[in-house]
Amino acid sequence: MLAAFVSAPAPKDPLSALEVGDRPGPEVPDGWTTVQVKAVSLNHHDLFSLQGIGLPAERMPMVLGTDAAGLDEDGNEVVVHGVVSTPGWTGDETLDPKRSLFSELHQGTMAEQVAVPRRNLLPKPAELSFAEAACLPTAWLTAYRMLFVRSGLRPGSTILVQGASGGVATALIRLGSVAGYRVWVTGRSEEKRTAALALGADQVFETGARLPERVDGVMETVGEATWSHSIKSLKPGGVVVTCGATTGFNPGAELNRVFFTQLSVIGSTMGTREELDDLIRMCRITGVRPQIDVEVPLAEAREGFERMLEGRTAGKIVFTL
Ligand SMILES: NC(=O)c1ccc[n+]([C@@H]2O[C@H](COP(=O)([O-])OP(=O)(O)OC[C@H]3O[C@@H](n4cnc5c(N)ncnc54)[C@H](OP(=O)(O)O)[C@@H]3O)[C@@H](O)[C@H]2O)c1
Repeated sequence: MLAAFVSAPAPKDPLSALEVGDRPGPEVPDGWTTVQVKAVSLNHHDLFSLQGIGLPAERMPMVLGTDAAGLDEDGNEVVVHGVVSTPGWTGDETLDPKRSLFSELHQGTMAEQVAVPRRNLLPKPAELSFAEAACLPTAWLTAYRMLFVRSGLRPGSTILVQGASGGVATALIRLGSVAGYRVWVTGRSEEKRTAALALGADQVFETGARLPERVDGVMETVGEATWSHSIKSLKPGGVVVTCGATTGFNPGAELNRVFFTQLSVIGSTMGTREELDDLIRMCRITGVRPQIDVEVPLAEAREGFERMLEGRTAGKIVFTL
């Protein structure tokens, strides 16, 4: 079957590790089923996998991809929840120490077919396209959990989103504005900042700019490049929610500000099946939809990876089959 996969990591030149070609069809363990993939979205996780970050060479060859929408074995339209918990795990699966995402322990979703646990399937509503539905299980679910589950911030609060054009950033802007937060955004170019306003941002700023006033919360996916600005932008008692560190995992801790101004630093990862169900319902009720930058056939996946690596994003990049 056609797949995008990695056979050997390339830490310094991730695109050189990307292969798009033939892979064997999926093996299906007990309690699992197969999905015929119609759309899969690209996440920064896939670039990290090409670099061997979170994916050691001994687990390769590995099909990439953490989310998908497609058809189940009976032809029903489905969305694939991306968090695979250990058999018998109950409760919040993001807290399962042995949880994984597709493409970490089990073959990923960037393929014509993928094997998934039966419990990871949710019905895809007809009003969402396959491409839109494929954006929900990783970037959009992560943004949903950051905002509505982990931040503790009520609508009406002012939040700063670091980054304007990325998958999680655009999800935070759309979800935050629809839910009634005042959304401020930093972006690295005029074009990206203008696009953020069109998505619902109230105000936009250059990366690292001094804000008119301090904010209640910051949504962080960028890491080293913006961390200090995030901490300095918070009101006393404010909260920074972090789900990622695209530019590096070791920022200055700014510990003096954290304790003197009594800040909260909260980690957030993916979301639960129930939260994905709620997110799908929120899309139906409000009409909010993922911002899709481009849709390209999986056979042309390299074009999408290049765009993300170079920062040429304007929302989600989706591969179709
Ligand atoms: N923990 C989880 O469950 C989880 C889930 C999803 C994602 N993540 C993580 O979240 C991060 C973002 O993922 P993504 O898929 O949304 O990636 P993406 O689409 O590539 O977006 C990257 C974002 O980072 C910003 N950025 C990159 N370099 C920057 C710099 N030097 N200075 C300022 N901003 C910079 C970009 O800002 P501009 O718009 O201004 O270019 C863009 O908004 C990744 O680290 C990913 O691993 C974690």
